[in-house]
Amino acid sequence: METWPELQEAVTEVLNSLSPGSPMVTADLGCSSGPNTLLVVSEVMSTIRAYLRETADNSRAMEVQFFLNDLPGNDFNLIFGSLDEQFHSLVTMEEKTVSPCYIAGLPGSMYTRILPCQSVHLFHSSHCLIWRSKVPEGLSNGTHVNGYNIYIGKTTPQVVVKLFREQFEKDFELFLTLRNEELVSGGRMVLTFAGRKRGEMPMHGGVARVWEVLSEALEYLVHRGRVEKKKLSSFNMPYYAPSLDEVTQLIKKQNDLFDLEDIRLFESNWDAHDDSDGDVVLDCSSSAANIAKIIRAGIEPLIINHFGEDILDELFRVYASILAKNLEKGKAMCPVIVVTLKKSKN
Ligand SMILES: C[S@@+](CC[C@H](N)C(=O)[O-])C[C@H]1O[C@@H](n2cnc3c(N)ncnc32)[C@H](O)[C@@H]1O
Repeated sequence: METWPELQEAVTEVLNSLSPGSPMVTADLGCSSGPNTLLVVSEVMSTIRAYLRETADNSRAMEVQFFLNDLPGNDFNLIFGSLDEQFHSLVTMEEKTVSPCYIAGLPGSMYTRILPCQSVHLFHSSHCLIWRSKVPEGLSNGTHVNGYNIYIGKTTPQVVVKLFREQFEKDFELFLTLRNEELVSGGRMVLTFAGRKRGEMPMHGGVARVWEVLSEALEYLVHRGRVEKKKLSSFNMPYYAPSLDEVTQLIKKQNDLFDLEDIRLFESNWDAHDDSDGDVVLDCSSSAANIAKIIRAGIEPLIINHFGEDILDELFRVYASILAKNLEKGKAMCPVIVVTLKKSKN
């Protein structure tokens, strides 16, 4: 994984600062219940075990409490059911004795307090902070409209762009304040989320491209009479992809909360199965089908909630076929921001 070096470094820094015998408390925010959920736990645990080996500190047992957080609707039972097979059974008895790991589910929104004051050493979050706590009020109450766009698209008015940005600012500042309360002094966070490469708006292209295609697919269903016009025009995603500058400025604005240790942006292909070089998509149909699956997994609950379940299969068939055409222009890349923060001492 592209962001493992940041995670490994944060774990190592936490271990350097822990007094012997103290347990380490870690939480993964927005853990989901998919194949990646337990990878984070494994990575943290193998970093700890390598650290104990390298520092020849085998006498020092290191107990780890790992909280897996997501919204209450997440399938926590699926995670618990796969713990033995995917995690506990892969570890030797000796490792379990030296560094036992206790895993617990933690349902709740990361935009609320979820853990006691000064109780956490490390927060990790991957592809979760892109989601806003809600659709900006100026849109959800109908004061402003966004046409058939479901996010920021080519025809989105500047006033609506501003609403999306302000919602992000409020959420991100709240997130930093809450996590600061929950972290121990010197505690760390490694946060990964989709962003955008350039500062300017509107931001069609980049991460917004896959959402513009979803708007087009929904519009097609309106023309087919499958979705009501007003249903589509009242649907907006609680989403915002910030630029590096926007993230940096918000962290610096509250610089009594966190020191910015590191921030960078890299690009990843929306189609995780396509590792070919260059910008040309070799098989647009299968690449579009792969991306449609990922987009569907992320957005399905919102679509069901607003449009109902009936349109799902048709929507994503249309989506994949529009996207396949769109991919002839080049790969759909997702700019990703990874930031490491350390709780300030003051
Ligand atoms: C794209 S998945 C990321 C899953 C995993 N972390 C990964 O990197 O593969 C985003 C997850 O964030 C969760 N999520 C969205 N808003 C959240 C919130 N306010 N609090 C906690 N989790 C949230 C979603 O339920 C979803 O499981």
